[in-house]
Amino acid sequence: MDIEKIIEKYLPQGEGFQKTVIEASCYSLQAGGKRVRPALMQEAYALFGGSEEVIEPFMAAMEMIHTYSLVHDDLPAMDNDTLRRGKPTTWFSYGEDMGILAGDALLTYAFETAAKGFSLTAHPDRAARAMGVLAQKAGIYGMVGGQVVDVENTGKPLTADMLDFIYRLKTGALLEASLMIGGILAGAGEDQIRMLEQMGTDLGLAFQIRDDILDVSSTEEELGKPIGSDERNQKTTYVTLYGLKAAQSEVSRLSDEAISLLDQLPGDHGFFRTFIRRLENRSY
Ligand code: IPE
Ligand code: IPE
Ligand code: MG
Ligand code: MG
Ligand code: MG
Repeated sequence: MDIEKIIEKYLPQGEGFQKTVIEASCYSLQAGGKRVRPALMQEAYALFGGSEEVIEPFMAAMEMIHTYSLVHDDLPAMDNDTLRRGKPTTWFSYGEDMGILAGDALLTYAFETAAKGFSLTAHPDRAARAMGVLAQKAGIYGMVGGQVVDVENTGKPLTADMLDFIYRLKTGALLEASLMIGGILAGAGEDQIRMLEQMGTDLGLAFQIRDDILDVSSTEEELGKPIGSDERNQKTTYVTLYGLKAAQSEVSRLSDEAISLLDQLPGDHGFFRTFIRRLENRSY
């Protein structure tokens, strides 16, 4: 099923007194976005022959968690940005209070959504494990952990190791989880799940470096979010540390590495290969 339709199907609904938070959550989810993480999850699931509906709530849940991370990332206390996915950021449209609450709501609703997967599979044990991965990669040892180190070191010089740590967690962790969950739900073996995780690490690092490059070289119209955000926030990035050319070479090297891991996995690689190359050179 089409990713947009899946996201639509699992949107929170209702007209109660709390309708503002439902509206703000849907606003941020429906603003668009490349849907990279659910696409990776769906593709990893297909690689291992998965065919149950269980993948759908997990795909929607992943996009909810990613969207919450953006809603909070844009808050005045964090990157203080006013444009996202071509629209005013959630906090800028609904106020800072609702920005915080919409993020909280999306994170929690993601787990409410993923829990719907248990009745859509003949393998609830796999769904339980996938849920654990979703939580771990989103939290202290994943995305939140990375954002903490990013924010704490804003304006300070960073070592290469520290920068890699930040990228692996703040961006890599959700890509790792997307691939792993696809594999887990389809019954991939332990070694294969580890390979999917490594692929996610490589793709995540490449994805964040490309994001840094676009922050200095793209336009607001094309990107749908402000350019120059990193400089304004005095962020050390791959571009400030190594320069544009070396940064893009690293994106290519990491993409090659991800493809060589893919080559060791079963299934048809055509879509994945093209997708990875597209991400390597993406312009938004
Ligand atoms: C932006 O993610 C934040 C990063 C991790 C670099 P995306 O570039 O996937 O944002 P959307 O979902 O397409 O808006
Ligand atoms: C954010 O990195 C990564 C997240 C976990 C949200 P950035 O701060 O560079 O992401 P953008 O450029 O605002 O999308
Ligand atoms: Mg940020
Ligand atoms: Mg940001
Ligand atoms: Mg950025």
